[in-house]
This record gives sequence, C-alpha cells and structure tokens, in this order.
Amino acid sequence: MFKVIDLSRISYNYTGWLVLAILYVLWSQSVFSQQLPNDDVGKGAVIFRDHCSACHGRTGEGDGPGAAALFPPPRDFTTGVYKYRSTSSGSMPTNEDLVKVIKRGLSGTWMPGWERLLSDDQILYVISYLKTLVSKEIEWQTGVPISTGSLPELPEGDRGDGEALFLILECWSCHGLSGSGKGPSANTLKDYKDRKITPTDLKDKHKYRAGYRAVDIRNSLLTGISGTPMPSYEGLFLLTKDDFMELEMNDGEYLSRYEIELMDRFIRKLPSNYEIEDLPEADLYNISLRNEWALSQYIESFQRKNGLFRWLFYSNPEDLKLRIQNE
Ligand code: HEC
Ligand code: HEC
Repeated sequence: MFKVIDLSRISYNYTGWLVLAILYVLWSQSVFSQQLPNDDVGKGAVIFRDHCSACHGRTGEGDGPGAAALFPPPRDFTTGVYKYRSTSSGSMPTNEDLVKVIKRGLSGTWMPGWERLLSDDQILYVISYLKTLVSKEIEWQTGVPISTGSLPELPEGDRGDGEALFLILECWSCHGLSGSGKGPSANTLKDYKDRKITPTDLKDKHKYRAGYRAVDIRNSLLTGISGTPMPSYEGLFLLTKDDFMELEMNDGEYLSRYEIELMDRFIRKLPSNYEIEDLPEADLYNISLRNEWALSQYIESFQRKNGLFRWLFYSNPEDLKLRIQNE
C-alpha cells in the first residue's frame, strides 16, 4: 500500500548552493566592475547598465531586450542624433537639454522621467557616459543654443497671422489642417533609419515631447526634430512678399477659399525685399520673431481644453502648469 514519506529523514545539503552563490557574486562583480574607473564616466556606466540598457541596449545602440516592442523606438546613442535640443538642427544637445529630458522623460513615449530615482549628480554622471557612446567618427560636439527672445502678446488684429503661416509653410501637409497629425503626406513619412514615423497630433498636449507651451513650440520649430521629417525653420521666418510671388495655388485641392484668402491677405501685409534691404539687424530679428510667435501661439490654440474625464482623473492642469513654470 502507500508508504508515508518521513520528511524529517530527507536532509538537504545547502553547501553546494552556498558555493554556487558565492561564485556567482564573485563572477558578477568581476564582470561588471571590470575596468570601470571610479570617475564620472565610470559611475555613469553603472547607472546606464542598471537603469537604461534594458531599452537603450548594452552598448547604447537602442537595441535593448525591451526595445523591439517600443514605438517610437529608444534612441541609438552611437549616432549622435538627438531630437530634443535648444541647439540648431543637426547639432548635439547641451547638458541642460539632456538633464531636462532625463529628469522629465518624454511624454507619450516609453522614455520615463528619472527625477525621483536618480540624484542630480547621478544624472550628470550618466550624461558624461552617454557622450562617450557616440561613435568615434562623429565625436561629441555640443551645439550652440538658439536665442530665446521674449514673448510679445500679439495685437488683436494679427491673430489670424499664425493660421496664415500654418498654411503658407505647409505644416498642414503633415500635421493636417485641424492639427490632428493626419495630413495628406502623413502616411509616407520615415525617420533616418527608414522606420515609419507619424506627425504629432498637435491637439493633444500630452503628445508634445519637447513641451506644449508656445515658448516650447517656438523652440521645436527653430531646432527641428533631428532624424525625423520635422524640418528646422531657423532663418525661414524672415518672410517677404517676394518669397511668395508664385504661391502655388494648386493647394486649392486641399484648401478652402477662406484659407487661400487668409494667406493672400497675410502675404500682402509682408514687407518686400526692397523694404527690408536697409533695415538694421534688430528690426529684421523682430520681424522674424513676430512670425515665430504668431505661429507658435496658433499651434498652442489647437490643444484641447481639459474635459470632465481629465478633470476627474488627472492632476489639476493648473498645478502642473505652475510646477513647470517654477522649474
Ligand atoms: C522603458 C524604456 C526606456 C528606458 C528604461 C530608458 N529610456 Fe531613454 N528613451 C526611450 C525611448 C523610447 C526614447 C525615444 C523617444 C522619442 O523618440 O521621442 C528615449 C530617448 C532618450 C533620450 C533621447 C533624447 C533626445 O533628445 O533624442 C535620452 C537622452 C535618453 N532616452 C536617456 C535615457 C537614460 C539616461 C536612461 C536611464 C537613466 C533611459 N533613457 C532609460 C526609452 C527608455
Ligand atoms: C514633412 C512633414 C512635416 C512638416 C512639413 C512639419 N512637421 Fe511638425 N512634425 C513632423 C513629425 C514626423 C513630427 C514628429 C517627430 C517625432 O516623432 O519626434 C513632428 C513634430 C512636430 C511638433 C511636436 C514637437 C514635440 O514637442 O514633440 C510640433 C509642435 C510640430 N511638428 C509643428 C510643426 C509646424 C508648426 C510645422 C510648420 C511650420 C510643421 N510641424 C511642419 C512632421 C512635419
């Protein structure tokens, strides 16, 4: 019949496990602490391995075990292509830019904010390490921040200028006339690694990764978003009548009469090449600045107001705004 097993007679021998555990600890220490100097870069490497490599990959190529499932994909740090900067298109970000991204994370993506998990020093260490990941042919070179300029309130009569600029500069071809990200060329876009990419839905403030206030939008317009089809408009806001001598009216396929008239009226108001020829640098800067702000404020106006759902389930948007302003 059944034989009752007497548990007390089974003796385990833990010694083998203990030896294995000690060997594992020794091995892992020797592997991981191998050649890692105790300077900023070395400390950054440890932080990167522990917190960032799961997505960004062991060597920073954006190919960590979790990467395949993520859209947009994690950044490949060996290419030196950084999307969110205060510096000109194609250049590398400043330390402040990187601190901002790493602390806050990137809204609407899998890139988390590290403000609560890493100290300010640790963030600087990991930044030192990120810079060493750029491939040897490229080398790290911090770009120069573009000028910020202060925010002039646009006079009542000029509110339509932002919309006119949105039409003239053909932002709508990608972002759509309503800003929803579904313009006529939206489906054709690829990033610099030939992966599909979609234009941002400008109506949803949580989708803006570089910030949704007019001041942030202006920055994104001037810097562009490197590695994506989102162009840089730096130097392109000093518009004159003559730029639009032959405004292509075949936009009529997509644009309404109202929209075409709006553009027409805006273009008439612009100075001519002749008129700006002798203007001092400061005046030219102001003409450009005005257009930059008009467009940025128009984009900001796309953003949906907070509905009941957000009011009930998200933190108070006013608090959030204050917090961001105070930072
Ligand atoms: C859960 C996945 C995940 C983890 C963990 C993660 N990241 Fe990211 N990270 C991303 C993704 C996804 C992007 C790309 C977002 C985009 O394209 O807008 C990104 C982008 C970035 C960028 C690029 C910003 C730019 O301007 O292009 C930096 C810098 C960055 N991460 C740093 C870090 C650091 C430092 C850590 C560790 C402390 C870390 N990340 C951990 C997913 C992750
Ligand atoms: C050729 C297509 C294209 C055109 C033209 C274009 N964009 Fe974009 N834009 C994109 C794509 C793609 C992204 C998303 C990039 C990404 O995934 O990081 C983007 C992102 C943005 C963002 C979001 C930045 C953030 O914080 O994440 C803003 C704001 C923006 N565009 C405004 C504009 C405005 C204004 C214009 C016209 C002056 C314009 N875009 C023209 C393709 C375009």
